[in-house]
Amino acid sequence: MTLRLGDIAPDFTQQSTIGEIRFHEWAGPHWVVLFSHPADFTPVCTTELGKTAKLAGEFARRNVKPLAVSVDPLESHQQWIQDINDTQSTTVNFPILADADRKVAELYDMIHPNSLANATVRSVFIIDPEKKIRLTLTYPASTGRNFTEILRVIDSLQLTDSHKVATPADWQEGDEVVIVPSLQDPEEIARRFPQGYRAIRPYLRLTPQPNRQ
Ligand code: BEZ
Repeated sequence: MTLRLGDIAPDFTQQSTIGEIRFHEWAGPHWVVLFSHPADFTPVCTTELGKTAKLAGEFARRNVKPLAVSVDPLESHQQWIQDINDTQSTTVNFPILADADRKVAELYDMIHPNSLANATVRSVFIIDPEKKIRLTLTYPASTGRNFTEILRVIDSLQLTDSHKVATPADWQEGDEVVIVPSLQDPEEIARRFPQGYRAIRPYLRLTPQPNRQ
């Protein structure tokens, strides 16, 4: 099944390291980062899960729940968590789905057999509180993901959901943003952006990040 931006993230029930998860119910009013791993006890995955655990405060501050997926069984996950905690000096504080029957991996098209036989690649789905898919990423097994980038995209999504702006290339929290081209009414622009804006071209208007005034 091809999942696209704006689609409703498919619901599922699956075992996890914190017990059975009914996905939509578990997500509740939160954002979710659903991300897959090729296998337990592999080096890159170990660093990725350690990094996610260390960023717990950053995810919580943004109302985001991380949820990892691996097609290994629950007992393996439980042992692996000990290793992650020991080697990455952290405490894994988010669930890992035990997707041994590949229910979730297949539902979310996380197995790309021409890249990696019999295991998931490194997929990421950012899902909003309405359960809509807002970002998809697919990395190869050999490349660990950049979790700072995942947080940056969440910041952009949350900002652009509540203001008529978009974020330019390499935007970081606090940088200027662009006013969406569809916004043309001068009164509304003045009301929304009291600090004014710079029009480099009529379609390229930069303004200070509105939620930091
Ligand atoms: C890893 O997580 O280290 C890994 C997994 C599968 C293939 C290559 C690396």
